[in-house]
Amino acid sequence: PLDHLESVWLFGYGSLIYKVDFPYLQAKPAYITGWQRRFWQGSHDHRGTPEAPGRVVTLVEAAGKRCVGMAYQVTPDTFAHLDQREKNGYLRFFTELHWLNNATPDSTADSSATTQGVVYIANPDNAAYLGPAPEVVIAKQIAESRGPSGPNSEYLLKLAQALRQLNEQDEHVFKLEQVLLDLQQQATA
Ligand code: BEZ
Repeated sequence: PLDHLESVWLFGYGSLIYKVDFPYLQAKPAYITGWQRRFWQGSHDHRGTPEAPGRVVTLVEAAGKRCVGMAYQVTPDTFAHLDQREKNGYLRFFTELHWLNNATPDSTADSSATTQGVVYIANPDNAAYLGPAPEVVIAKQIAESRGPSGPNSEYLLKLAQALRQLNEQDEHVFKLEQVLLDLQQQATA
């Protein structure tokens, strides 16, 4: 249903922030409202295995909160690549994107304060969905998991680094990062 559009804004809040393996027309820091990033999605195929799933982020509804990420203007065929990359059965939906730090797109045609964008999400109906757990439990699972894309810890550390570069104070991600680093230090001590 996206094929009739010349270009589409895609909003990334997880690996799409730091792993960009697709062409894009422009990239801009952006945020969406009413959602929070949470490590509540299981990863059977990238950062874990079916027997020992890792944890990756999905969005959870949270009134009054916002989720900062990166928006990419892409052509519709890019979604075929991303659907293949993210095989774990994510849903896509359109939502309003707000530009961060007064960033505005290059083209005057859409230099308004907001635009519609596509977001990938896993909800509790997703077969790999794990849901909430204490942050120390999540961090331990991340410390111990790995899959075909590499260690789950790398995913968390890269995401935390990318959010720091965006100047975003994401308490959930930074708490998990801190516990993970503590666990890694204990393991080598
Ligand atoms: C993201 O980075 O926004 C994302 C990537 C894969 C699946 C869901 C979301």
